[in-house]
Amino acid sequence: MTAQTHWQAWHEPYADENSPLSRRLRLVQQHIASWLDQRSDERLTVVSACAGQGHDLIGVLASRSDAQRVHGTLLEYDAGNVTAAQAAADQAGLSNIVIRQADAGQLSSYLGAAPADLVLMVGVFGNISDADVERTVAALPRLCAESATVIWTRARRDSDLTSAVRRWLRDAGFVEQAFHAPDDVRFSVGVHRFESAPQPLDPAGTIFTFLR
Ligand SMILES: C[S@@+](CC[C@H](N)C(=O)[O-])C[C@H]1O[C@@H](n2cnc3c(N)ncnc32)[C@H](O)[C@@H]1O
Repeated sequence: MTAQTHWQAWHEPYADENSPLSRRLRLVQQHIASWLDQRSDERLTVVSACAGQGHDLIGVLASRSDAQRVHGTLLEYDAGNVTAAQAAADQAGLSNIVIRQADAGQLSSYLGAAPADLVLMVGVFGNISDADVERTVAALPRLCAESATVIWTRARRDSDLTSAVRRWLRDAGFVEQAFHAPDDVRFSVGVHRFESAPQPLDPAGTIFTFLR
């Protein structure tokens, strides 16, 4: 992680419900809620890479009567964001949500948290190199439990990587459930279901390095 971006201030546009970031959040939250509605399991697991203040998962679980069946690990590097996410989880009474201060680019950080039934890669793919996006997508079968869902985001810039991301996901054994790319904003949100065999989590290795 670099010193260029203040990752606590990065969250400020969430205070404006009309900001693109808030619109992206609502889409991600809708898909988390749909995933919960579709899964009747008594126990579900979630891992969120670069979770920030946890607005997506904590925001959904805070209003769900079935929140206690979700056991989640939020991986976040910034100490201030870890504190904010922990406070939000505590306020919502989410005792099964663990906020882990860790480098989500290291596979070792996922020990005990993966394989998970829901993997959130939200606000990750736009902050790492294209080669690291490809490497991370290829590593997802090691983070996913059987029939897991992955929710991911990526800004569409001059060179739009989203077609490649969707192809890499297909190659890694995922089937696309949804892809949102609204015309008036740069963000995109993808939802993919893992329909291949999970692979063992080899905790050695780096899947990405944050650039910004
Ligand atoms: C673009 S924000 C996304 C936050 C959150 N997922 C969201 O969408 O609201 C990226 C987050 O990644 C965190 N971060 C940066 N490098 C990281 C790393 N190596 N491991 C874990 N978190 C990291 C930052 O502190 C920041 O909170």
